[in-house]
Amino acid sequence: MNEKQLIANFAANRIEDGMLVGLGTGSTANVFIEALALRAKEEGLKISTVASSVISAIKAQQAGLPVWAIEQVGQLDVYVDGADEVAPDLTLLKGRGADLVKEKLLAKAARRFMVLADPSKFVDWIGERYPIPIEVAPFAWRLVKTSLEDIGGRGDLRLNAAGDNVAVTAHGSLVLDMKFEVAFDSKTLNQLLSGTPGVVEHGIFSGLATSVVTVRDGRVQEVLGGR
Ligand code: 5RP
Repeated sequence: MNEKQLIANFAANRIEDGMLVGLGTGSTANVFIEALALRAKEEGLKISTVASSVISAIKAQQAGLPVWAIEQVGQLDVYVDGADEVAPDLTLLKGRGADLVKEKLLAKAARRFMVLADPSKFVDWIGERYPIPIEVAPFAWRLVKTSLEDIGGRGDLRLNAAGDNVAVTAHGSLVLDMKFEVAFDSKTLNQLLSGTPGVVEHGIFSGLATSVVTVRDGRVQEVLGGR
């Protein structure tokens, strides 16, 4: 069993009968969806889910899990998702996919947000490996880019998989992938980005994770955080 499977199984075993579970997006989230569906089937658990993306909704439905529309949900018991980077204070970087808006919405609405992170995801500071994905209203991208350049941001619009045009997110936004020359701490950068007009959402998840599940020395560990 590989690390992602160990972590996903651990998380699936933490889900209780009757829970409403938020499903993240990405390769780790996919393994969790499979593990959860298997457990629900084998143990006859009544689990409902709400998905952060069309891809995860379809995967869950195909695996036999009931999926609610996000509009029907006021609160969820737990949200389970992967991350691109995890800092020591459990701030996350997410959003290499195109589903950032729903991911953050569900992470915030859940009583618990369990992050599934294999050891490769841990960093000393947010932005160490990847640029920060910043979703912008399409008409605002140039003005937002200028605002971010004024505070030391460097980057450009994300391109689609073919590389022949800009990428458009599930929410209909464009994405600026920006590195920051100034060494902002993630809390400050979170506030700066959230306070920039034209920014729809961004990939810094600050103060949202309640735990991170990982593998150390071949053993699954859950590191608890606060909100
Ligand atoms: C998508 C995300 C993913 O959770 C993140 O990219 C990690 O993906 P993976 O589990 O495939 O490594 O934030 O927007």
